Amino acid sequence: MAGKLQAPRGTFDVLPADGERRQLLRENADDLLGRAGYGPFETPAFEDTEVFARGVGQSTDIVSKEMFTFEDKGGRSLTLRPEGTAGACRAYVEHGMHKLSQPVKLRYWGPFFRHEAPQAGRYRQFNQVGAEALGSDDPTLDAELILLLAELLEDSGVESRLKLSSLGNAETRASYGEELRTFLRAREGELSEEVRARVDANPLRAFDADHPGTRAVMAEAPLLIDRLDAADAEHFAEVRGLLDDAEQEYDLDPTLVRGLDYYTRTVFEFDSPSLGAQSGVGGGGRYDGLVEQLGGPPTPGVGWAAGIERILLASDEDPDDLELPVAFVAVPRPELRRMAFGIVRALRDSGARAEMEQAGRSMKGQLKQANRIGATHVVIVGDELEVKEMEGGEQRVVADEQELLEAVLG
Ligand code: HAM
Repeated sequence: MAGKLQAPRGTFDVLPADGERRQLLRENADDLLGRAGYGPFETPAFEDTEVFARGVGQSTDIVSKEMFTFEDKGGRSLTLRPEGTAGACRAYVEHGMHKLSQPVKLRYWGPFFRHEAPQAGRYRQFNQVGAEALGSDDPTLDAELILLLAELLEDSGVESRLKLSSLGNAETRASYGEELRTFLRAREGELSEEVRARVDANPLRAFDADHPGTRAVMAEAPLLIDRLDAADAEHFAEVRGLLDDAEQEYDLDPTLVRGLDYYTRTVFEFDSPSLGAQSGVGGGGRYDGLVEQLGGPPTPGVGWAAGIERILLASDEDPDDLELPVAFVAVPRPELRRMAFGIVRALRDSGARAEMEQAGRSMKGQLKQANRIGATHVVIVGDELEVKEMEGGEQRVVADEQELLEAVLG
């Protein structure tokens, strides 16, 4: 016999029991984001590698280590998308969306790919739900998006904490970067090797280090948030005011480091304590220079993405909140199959969830099966039509199909 085949490392299958929870989450996200004006949006699962190299940033782990990149038969370099924002901006430019009325609000749901070391909550193919608002720097968009993600997480039964900061604009970041580099170089001997190697490329990552010596140095480092210019400070104050009005709690975290280079101004992350090491359940921020970087007109943007698998891992909720009646139509003898089939169709047409016996089980086995699928009613076909209520066990004969539907649907 040939060797056993398995899903590739870091990937997983979604079986129906889990699929149900994902479906509910998706419906909830569609409803929540749709009501805020975010329209359904899709991009391809792969893009020209350049979209991510230019968009996400060469110095990030995502681009330098984690991309699934391959050459197509025409010799073009393609990459399975590691995230959705760069592709959204590429599409905004490609379709001239700056000519539409602004902001353009998009929502998406789908698979993303990063070649990371797999562990609980960290996969090589995972799914994100995301939202982006392009074409306006209005602080109500930053606040609206943060509140939408907070609501999605709360509705999904995820306990989380919001971390919030501002990175200012590109110039502030550049001059702060120089200030930080000078500071780090002066204390080089105390830093971890990894941080030392990155001082030039990405000094901000030093705030992310676990190394005790580095942490001690970083506790004394200058903070970007103290260097914001007047306009950025005002923008951040407005975002915070809006969150305060909405009674949204947050921790100001001036050392918040996101793993992508395109952020400007507002950045945020929701962490869930129940997730352990991979505690980031969702995050995002403003990226006012990204569209331009990808060849479009200067265009502000803000958005977030959250991991579907992490939401479901962190959720303490049983998704069993479908209040539909569930009928199981028992088939005492095979020749009654046709009658049962008609009844199951009538039940579904009238809004119930209905299944019938389809595996030749004994009556006892069929009642067990009814239990397994969470049936509220069992219908028994035969010379007489009977409906049994699972809760309480009451069983009665009904005169016809109409009476049967009433008995099940109430
Ligand atoms: P991100 O923080 O890289 O942001 O990813 C967002 C979320 O995707 C994370 O919080 C996490 O829940 C999930 N995620 C990331 N990597 C993995 C993985 N390997 N396995 C499982 N889940 C994962 C972005 O992707 C930005 N595009 C967000 C954004 C949108 N910023 C502005 N607009």
